Amino acid sequence: MNDQIFETVLTTMAADGRVHVAPMGVRYQAGLVVLMPFKPSTTLDNVLATRHAVLNLVTDSRVFAGCVTGRRSWPTLPADKIAGARLANALGHVELALQQHLDDPQRPVLRMTRVHEAGHAPFMGLNRAQHAVVEGAVLVSRLHMLPAAKVDAEMAYLQIAIDKTAGPEEREAWGWLRDAVAAHRAKAAA
Ligand SMILES: Cc1cc2nc3c(=O)[nH]c(=O)nc-3n(C[C@H](O)[C@H](O)[C@H](O)COP(=O)(O)O)c2cc1C
Repeated sequence: MNDQIFETVLTTMAADGRVHVAPMGVRYQAGLVVLMPFKPSTTLDNVLATRHAVLNLVTDSRVFAGCVTGRRSWPTLPADKIAGARLANALGHVELALQQHLDDPQRPVLRMTRVHEAGHAPFMGLNRAQHAVVEGAVLVSRLHMLPAAKVDAEMAYLQIAIDKTAGPEEREAWGWLRDAVAAHRAKAAA
């Protein structure tokens, strides 16, 4: 079984047509895309309601930082073959259909088949600042359960890649993450 995880962004649609954007780690196993959303999850609810999702391959790290800091409105375009939407800034997207749902009290498994895929922009190479933003977004999504000293140490290390290799998008995303850490501390102190 391939347990390598790739960080992507899922776009799903509610029964009423509202689009939901969420960063999600996925596994590629035997040609399928495997999602493991923690309950409760709007992504899970939407996939179970519509039986579809769109996997977006994104290097604009603002989407990852934005979704964990309350900025979930990202421009979308209609999907090609399913009722759904893909991110306008995706380098590529894969339209998915639910093949199997293994329920679990905490973390169900959704095994999805590929209905259609399309490329939209070239991959420019690995960028350390984008990686730093994704790691920072994971830290920010876990602020409620991580010790402050660990968050500070990891953010300080990630800052090096930001200072050396960021462009404007990564700098903006990093600012949102730093603000979220500060807001969390202020709330905890109050
Ligand atoms: C890089 C990254 C990867 C994530 N991977 C997962 C995941 O695999 N499963 C999950 O439930 N949430 C994951 N999250 C957190 C979700 O994006 C976030 O909690 C989201 O709100 C999921 O819940 P939702 O479906 O209700 O939006 C990840 C967040 C980040 C920043």
